[in-house]
Amino acid sequence: MTDTMEAFDFEAVANELRPQCEALIAQYERPRSALLPIMHLFQARQGYVSQEAMEFAAGLLQLTRAEVEATVSFYTLFFRKPVGKYVLQVCRGLMCELRGADDILAYFREKLGIGHLETTEDGMFSYEEVECLASCNRATCMQVNLEFVYDLTPAMIDDMLAAMRAGTYHVKPMVQTQTPGRTWKVKQDGEVGTGRKSPGTRTSSDPNNAGGVGDPTGVIMLDTIVLRNAAFAARSRERFVRDASQISEIIDEDGGIINAGH
Ligand code: FES
Repeated sequence: MTDTMEAFDFEAVANELRPQCEALIAQYERPRSALLPIMHLFQARQGYVSQEAMEFAAGLLQLTRAEVEATVSFYTLFFRKPVGKYVLQVCRGLMCELRGADDILAYFREKLGIGHLETTEDGMFSYEEVECLASCNRATCMQVNLEFVYDLTPAMIDDMLAAMRAGTYHVKPMVQTQTPGRTWKVKQDGEVGTGRKSPGTRTSSDPNNAGGVGDPTGVIMLDTIVLRNAAFAARSRERFVRDASQISEIIDEDGGIINAGH
């Protein structure tokens, strides 16, 4: 831990955040729906989602640790190890590739002197190459501490890194409560769960792989939906009717009115 970092008291922070967590839980029909916002709360305070934070959330939401970890590990929005003040997540998806992402990725690696899932020695930058950030119309793009930056060019990268080093960049640096290691890769076994990234990416055996090309998870999910169509349709309709109770009339696929009386 560097001199500028104060000791982080997880228990004190958890007690402080508990009322906010409870208010979040109260907003949802099922407590588990509050998991993502609760994890964001802790990440904002601790700089990453620690094992303690996941345990705390599991206890609060009456989930298993594995369920919490499976959810947290699915999203590149959450960092499961201490990271740099600026987390640079650069898209390597197909659209960005077509618009020159290879050159952008290479430029970042050269300028930072680090590779995928690594942090610079001074703890300033963490770098990750991620799958589609759903902003393909502004490729090539990235997120800086989860804020989008679009239409990247080498000149923009130079300006961005200089501003971050000078402390003048418009996106706030991450909170750091621990000195980050040189890599924020998660180990395959032992350190986190079973080593599988999450049940959502069933065939991805590398917990650091965001999925993408060659990952048949989407096909598996589609099969599941098709095979369990009746059950899904019934549940979707139930929610649709409940959520849309303010709307005067909703017609189902057979032409019948499914919210008569509302
Ligand atoms: S491929 Fe980069 S945002 Fe979609």
